[in-house]
Amino acid sequence: MKIPTPLYSHVYKYDDVYEPAEDTFLFLDALEDQADKIQSIAPKIVLEIGSGSGIVSTFIAKIIGSLASYFCTDKNPSANVCTRETGKINSVELLTVTTNFVEGLLPRLKNNVDVLLFNPPYVVTPSKEIADGGITFAWAGGTNGREVMDQFFPLIPELLSPKGLFFLVVIEENNPQDIIKTLDGLGLKGEIIKTRKAGLEVLSILKFSRS
Ligand SMILES: C[S@@+](CC[C@H](N)C(=O)[O-])C[C@H]1O[C@@H](n2cnc3c(N)ncnc32)[C@H](O)[C@@H]1O
Repeated sequence: MKIPTPLYSHVYKYDDVYEPAEDTFLFLDALEDQADKIQSIAPKIVLEIGSGSGIVSTFIAKIIGSLASYFCTDKNPSANVCTRETGKINSVELLTVTTNFVEGLLPRLKNNVDVLLFNPPYVVTPSKEIADGGITFAWAGGTNGREVMDQFFPLIPELLSPKGLFFLVVIEENNPQDIIKTLDGLGLKGEIIKTRKAGLEVLSILKFSRS
């Protein structure tokens, strides 16, 4: 299945929104590879944490179609505005919420999310940078680049539906095998589905499900 890259040339207008980069494009490539698997579970609810420009949710909406609802959260309010614009330009309806991970949405979404997506802030930084705000939210991952994603992991079993799939972007420094082990402890089976070297980063996409 060949899905065109969504239109995103307007993103440059938003100074503090993460512009699609190598990690984003590897994520799109991995989702395209998984298109048959994703379609086979007939998703009804899709949730992206940290949607940034909105290009990832727009892309998955092109894979799945209009029968699903697309929820996008971001801590950065400008990202929500940009996500909505990206959806609109590409004729996709994206429902955006400015929040920390999924706060305020979890009761409604509990065990209802069929596809969960997160390209987290994964860069190794001093811990205090995580709270700097704006565009820093996009990359500052603290110790081992794991501090933000580690806070999110316990929420995954609460969000995923029985057939749900979770996709995560990581770099080598995050220790992908340790992440797979950590989520195994939460009842999720994981694997690396794509890896690519981009400059100094070795990026991977991980996929998790309940079985
Ligand atoms: C690496 S960017 C990814 C943006 C986009 N999804 C992409 O793939 O290009 C990470 C995004 O996560 C957001 N973010 C960071 N911490 C968050 C949190 N605790 N809750 C919600 N969003 C968060 C950032 O503001 C940023 O937009």
